[in-house]
Amino acid sequence: MFKNLTRSVRHLTSRALTQYNYATSTRSSGTSSSNRSSTSGCVTNYPAKPFVAVTKAVEGWVQKLEDAGVHDTEFNLKCIVSHVLKRKFNTVPDNFSQLQFDPKQLAEFERFLEARCARMPLQHIIGEWDFMDITLKTAPSVFIPRPETEEFVRLVIVNYKDVKHVNMLEVGCGSGAMSLSMLHALPQVEATAIERSQAATVLAAENAKLLGLQKRFQVHNHTMEEDQYLPEQLQDKKYDLIISNPPYVKTEEFQFLHPEVVVYENLNALDGGSDGLRVARLVFDLACRHLHSGGKLWLELGNEHPPLVKTIMHLKYEGRLNFVGSYYDQYKRERFVQIEKV
Ligand SMILES: C[S@@+](CC[C@H](N)C(=O)[O-])C[C@H]1O[C@@H](n2cnc3c(N)ncnc32)[C@H](O)[C@@H]1O
Repeated sequence: MFKNLTRSVRHLTSRALTQYNYATSTRSSGTSSSNRSSTSGCVTNYPAKPFVAVTKAVEGWVQKLEDAGVHDTEFNLKCIVSHVLKRKFNTVPDNFSQLQFDPKQLAEFERFLEARCARMPLQHIIGEWDFMDITLKTAPSVFIPRPETEEFVRLVIVNYKDVKHVNMLEVGCGSGAMSLSMLHALPQVEATAIERSQAATVLAAENAKLLGLQKRFQVHNHTMEEDQYLPEQLQDKKYDLIISNPPYVKTEEFQFLHPEVVVYENLNALDGGSDGLRVARLVFDLACRHLHSGGKLWLELGNEHPPLVKTIMHLKYEGRLNFVGSYYDQYKRERFVQIEKV
């Protein structure tokens, strides 16, 4: 996670905050006009509001963040300080020495920290996030790409780096993280994505454009359902590769999730039904219809799922889909599976 923030945190926006109505400032803007008042043509000059040392501004916030249940408090503080100062994370000293906020920055800093104490994810406060070698815009209701998904994408990239041309489909692309990082790494890939959320569809298209990848990426706002796997215009298409990080959290597990997830993530991006495989099962059927023979389906799932998927392949898809193997994430959890179309 640290690695993700060692890159630029410039051009960051507070759009996410304003949409959540957290943007109520408790301080004046601190512009020169706010330090002057004009009454009956008589101009009174008040002393300019002073700059505040960042070391002073951060006092007390580690405790407040801890009390709110936020982990990695130092990291959170440094991210927010870098964001407010529009500086790269790795150019900000850990002890914040020599840094100052003007009054406007101080108000912004406090507002962002209040949002973080309300468990708003850092990614939404900052408005963008690094994923692999690309930077993606984030949006309040769109799934935040996770570090384990970077591992998943790396694994897929290794398997396709020497393949001449790859026609890929992604089911549920969210912000576009997986497809766009694949396109960025492999110029021979062309990607089509479907996504049930309108906000995510718009964001993925916007991210593709910001990254200059829009010529090789198309995204359709479509909800995959039984017998309606792809939108009308894609129904005759076949792909070499299908990737998906479908919703896989068991409904009963929602009670154990952090507030950042339960309150701020779109539940349609997470809810995998009673066994976590409700959407994955639709992806298996989609793969039967839309993969070329020998084509591969790669899935990121929960750590209980790979053995279950292997059994499902034997029982239900024999002669159509073969379970090739499963792979572990950095926490030694069996999370990723590869399946082949017969
Ligand atoms: C866990 S998120 C993954 C997003 C992105 N691939 C990533 O890794 O950051 C799952 C995504 O699938 C989408 N989704 C869920 N059910 C879907 C369905 N039936 N058809 C299409 N998209 C779906 C959700 O809206 C969400 O964006």
